[in-house]
Amino acid sequence: MTNFRSIVITGASGGIGSELARAFAGPGVSLALIARDAQRLEPLARECEAAGATVALAGIDVRDRAGLHAFLQAHDTDHPVDLLISNAGVTCGLGAGRSRETDEDAEWLAEVNYKGAVHTVSALVERMRARRAGRIVLMSSLAGMRGFPDMPSYSATKAALIAYGESLGGWLRRDRVGVTVICPGFVTSPMSARYMGAKPFEISAAKAAQIIKQAAEKGKPFRAFPLPLALGIRLSKFLPAWASDLCYAPMSADVARDPRSDL
Ligand SMILES: NC(=O)c1ccc[n+]([C@@H]2O[C@H](COP(=O)([O-])OP(=O)(O)OC[C@H]3O[C@@H](n4cnc5c(N)ncnc54)[C@H](OP(=O)(O)O)[C@@H]3O)[C@@H](O)[C@H]2O)c1
Repeated sequence: MTNFRSIVITGASGGIGSELARAFAGPGVSLALIARDAQRLEPLARECEAAGATVALAGIDVRDRAGLHAFLQAHDTDHPVDLLISNAGVTCGLGAGRSRETDEDAEWLAEVNYKGAVHTVSALVERMRARRAGRIVLMSSLAGMRGFPDMPSYSATKAALIAYGESLGGWLRRDRVGVTVICPGFVTSPMSARYMGAKPFEISAAKAAQIIKQAAEKGKPFRAFPLPLALGIRLSKFLPAWASDLCYAPMSADVARDPRSDL
């Protein structure tokens, strides 16, 4: 059971998004599940309905601001949203021979991970402010707390989400709208399967969803996990850059190309 009644999840067909939908699904809960490919959301929707939730599906690219706004605002009119989870995200890393990322990849990450989150928030933030209720969850990453050497643009977009979330939190507090920034470490999912390197303290997407749900329900402004990595990253800030880089060397990775990047 959850105290939220109308929940939106972007990137709902992925590893973490689909487990979030399962975690929140229950009697009296309305879910809006969004990803580019609506067909991939169908089996999840049936599962959530069987758990007692009502489900709306939408095949929308979060880069399509007009399409996303039209859907979210129409949905909000019928089901005033009290939990907006901006979870859709993509990844890439260094190119062949550890060359730089292409400009196209860097732009794609900025468009989906950062601008997509802004489009998601901007669709409903004024409505939530007017109602003086609700919570916004932004899916960042430990890579946003300290840039991973193999993923410059991914790290940068996730750092942008931390700053964006902190700023939103300060702005919206007086309007009684809460903001939670989530920084997961390695979570088993199609995305992390493409990360070809060590994944210390990797946890299941179901476990991650429970941690995220709890953070939202408790009204936490920030939640980074697992604890050993989150703590290690915080402590590494006190080291000189060369020593901090040495700590990250064992996690060096190749990031395989996302087969869905051309959708
Ligand atoms: N897995 C990890 O270890 C980890 C760690 C830290 C943070 N995170 C973050 O957690 C979030 C979820 O990650 P995940 O591991 O669950 O990834 P995933 O399994 O690859 O799922 C990504 C989801 O985002 C959707 N998506 C991708 N591009 C989209 C777009 N342009 N518009 C709308 N939807 C889009 C995908 O569906 P379609 O392809 O159908 O659009 C899918 O539902 C991401 O923001 C990720 O950066 C993950």
